Parts: sequence; structure tokens; C-alpha cells
Amino acid sequence: MSDLNPILSGSAQSIAAYQEAIEQSTQAVVQWLKQPEMYQGKTVAELRERINLEFTSQGLGNQAAIERAVEYFLKDSLSVHHPQCVAHLHCPSLVISQAAEVLINATNQSMDSWDQSPSATIIEMKLIEWLRAQVGYPAGDAGVFTSGGTQSNLMGLMLARDAFFARQGHSVQQHGLTGNLSKIKVLCSENAHFSVQKNMALMGLGYQSVTLVKTDAFSRMDLNDLAQKLAEAKANGELVMAIVATAGTTDAGAIDPLADIAALAAEQQIWVHVDAAWGGALLLSEKYRHFLNGLELADSVTLDFHKQFFQTISCGAFLLKDARHYQLMRYQAAYLNSDFDEEQGVPNLVSKSLQTTRRFDALKLWMGLEALGKKQYAEIIDNGVTLAQQVAEFVGEQPQLELVMQPQLASVLFRFRPEKGDTASVALLNQRIGDALLASGSANVGVTEADGVTCLKLTLLNPTVCLEDVKVLLASVVACGQQLQNA
Ligand SMILES: Cc1ncc(COP(=O)(O)O)c(C=O)c1O
Repeated sequence: MSDLNPILSGSAQSIAAYQEAIEQSTQAVVQWLKQPEMYQGKTVAELRERINLEFTSQGLGNQAAIERAVEYFLKDSLSVHHPQCVAHLHCPSLVISQAAEVLINATNQSMDSWDQSPSATIIEMKLIEWLRAQVGYPAGDAGVFTSGGTQSNLMGLMLARDAFFARQGHSVQQHGLTGNLSKIKVLCSENAHFSVQKNMALMGLGYQSVTLVKTDAFSRMDLNDLAQKLAEAKANGELVMAIVATAGTTDAGAIDPLADIAALAAEQQIWVHVDAAWGGALLLSEKYRHFLNGLELADSVTLDFHKQFFQTISCGAFLLKDARHYQLMRYQAAYLNSDFDEEQGVPNLVSKSLQTTRRFDALKLWMGLEALGKKQYAEIIDNGVTLAQQVAEFVGEQPQLELVMQPQLASVLFRFRPEKGDTASVALLNQRIGDALLASGSANVGVTEADGVTCLKLTLLNPTVCLEDVKVLLASVVACGQQLQNA
């Protein structure tokens, strides 16, 4: 073995190398944070040309590898903390989340078994208990941290599917899917996240299994249409295995009528999964917690902490109301969760997760809650929701801008409106505004669709952003729109 032992360990040499590498990286981050630009504005072609892997026989050493990462990765990264970076549900992170990452990464615990993560296992379990209490679930620890909303939604749908088959005496886990699968349906709104479709395809039921329920003027699931789709399904001999309600749709931030959906589902014993990947942040809100009334009625819930909880990627959770449903995905591996261990009361989280090896992302939320406290956490969450309302009012006053919908969470949907132009040309112009701003490196504004027509989106998660910052951004949207229009 060469002198330069690259493994992190307790040896003096390794500790010195660790400290040097971390110090060099931290210094580079500090310089990057001071960069005024949101993005250096390089194109796809320029980055492809510039970035090349240098995997040499002798190795470059830590210092040079870090220098190259700074040059080729850091300098051309997007500054997610920049006030003009508001395209997506992509948050700037808490400082304490960064500190937690240092601990998570250095210890490299794996959350599948107790003997790979003793204290971490207990912390995650206690945090799940706490999250359940926030939702209004019965006491217990049924739930697990996940890589994010897509995985949590997959767990909800998979357990809904398997509970549905189990009621008919069939174990999907043992025997796979059976029967006329084209009759099995999931209902969700037209604005639900696309992971519903992707997950249903992954589960062998295809996109065709997803029945879209219409939405109202605020992008929320329309209850009348839900009742009608349920009745149609029955008349067609279809079997509804789940309804997915959304608490915070990706664009409009719409929260479906959770309690009413749960009541309709209960009449037919249908599993309700609530995708609260975004809106779940309101669990901590002082002003808007009531938006989530009815969440406690769901059979399972998706929460995402790398959205409006300001944790670094990745950090999500899945909560299951009735722990007995976990039996549906139980698998015993002698080396991880043996009967012997379980009889001795040794906890393991592999039985609750789709993943085996898994990061200790729960630490970030744990430290975030402790560091910020309830009041400050509530403030930074409420800030975005309140700011979106102020921005919407301002947009409504601008002759060249059109507000597409009143905000419900922390997003604003709007359009640049030229004096003349048909729907298609206005849509194209707005697409080009979004592209031009990113290409200039000055701003990242979302480009999406509302009612099938292109519009712009501001996702105002960042609690350091104020109305004045957004006014500056909107002025550049208008200037860019005018320039493109006159070109
Ligand atoms: C409502 C909703 N659900 C689920 C997801 C997927 O979450 P993730 O990207 O963490 O997998 C998103 C992503 O934006 C979302 O907006």
C-alpha cells in the first residue's frame, strides 16, 4: 500500500489528510458562495467540451482532485441560494444541514440494521414517532426516511396495491400480480406529480391504470368529478386500489380537499395516500397548519424535507398509518433482521424501507429542528407562503404581466403579456424568456404549463428573498420579454 492511505480512519496520517481535504473544500465553497452570479451562463455544448474525466494510473492526489472539482463543478454550479434562483422546488439549505452532512458522511452509518447504525437507528425511529404526532397519526414508529417524494409515493402505492390484493386473499409478495390487471385503477388529480404514473408503470400496472380526476380553478381535485370517476369505475367493473391526494401540487401548490377525499374513499374502503412532498412543510407552520386538516385520515403520507424544510438533498419520509401493513413488504434476511434479533427486541429499519443500504438523512432534520426551534422553523416556512401572496398582488398591478392563478403555497404562476399575440406566440415568448434569463446567468425562472398553456413560475422557498428581490427579477422578465418581442 502506498504511503498516501486514502481511507478515512483514526490514523494520524488519515486524520491529517481528512482535515486538509475538508479545509480545502470548505474554503472553495466559501469562495463560491461569494460569487455574485447565479450561474456562469455556459451552454450545454460548452460544458460538454470543458468537462473531462482525468482517471490516471498514478492518481492526481486529493488536493488536485479537489482543485479540478472546484474548476469543473463548483464554478459552473447553479447558486440555489441566489435570490433570482426560483425555478423549482429546489431549496437553499440550512447551515445546520451542512454540518449534519459532515457527521453523516464521516460516520457513514447504514440504516438497514442496528449493528450498522445503533444511535442513528434510534434517532430515526424517534423522529418518525415525532413526525407521526405532527400529522395526527396514532403513536408508533411505522414509517421510514426515504430518498424523496418519488420513493415515498412508490411505497404508498405499493402497499395500497398489496393491501388491495390481500383483501382478496392474494399475496402479491409471494405470487405476483394476478387477474385482469387492466381493471385495477388509481385515481389522482390532473395536477398530481408524475411519479404516480411512473410508479404505477414500475409496479406492472402501466400508465393506463391512472385515472385523472379533473381539477377546479385552483388546481385542486374536483370532488364532484372524483365521485363521478368512482361511480364510472364501478359501472365499468374497475377496481380502485387507491386515491392519491396531493397536498401541494408541484406548480400551483394546490392542496386537494383532504378530509372530503378521505370520506369518499372510506365509503368504498379505498386506500388514500397523500403526497405532501411540498405542502407537508406546513406541519411546522404557525399560520397555515390548518391547510393540512384531514391529512391524519390518510393511510399513508409522503413528506419531503429537501423542499420547504430546507434540508440538503436527499431527505424524505414515508409514514404509514397502520403498522400492520408493513407485513406486506416484509422480507427476512438472516444477516440483517433475523427472528433471533427481532425476538431480542433489536430494532432494524430494513423491514420498513425499499432500500437496503441507506443514508442517515434523518440526522439533518433532527439537527435542524433542534437548532432552529419551532418558532424560527415556522417563520422560514411561512415566509414563502406570505411572500407569494405579496408577489401575486404586485404582478396583478403590472400591465405587462398576467397572474395565472392566486398562490396557495409559495409559488406564483404568471405570464409576460405582450400587447398583441395569439396564445401560441405568447406561450413561445414566455418559454424564450425563461431560456434567455438562464443563458444570461442572471436568473432561473420556472417554465411550465397551466391549463396546457406555457407560463412562468416563481417558487419562493428561499426565506432570505424579499419582495424587493422579486421586483428586480420581474423587471428583468419584462425587459427580456420586450427585447425578445422587438428582436
Ligand atoms: C408534489 C410532488 N410530489 C413528489 C415529488 C417528487 O419528489 P422527489 O423529487 O423528492 O422524488 C415532487 C417533486 O417536485 C413533487 O412536487
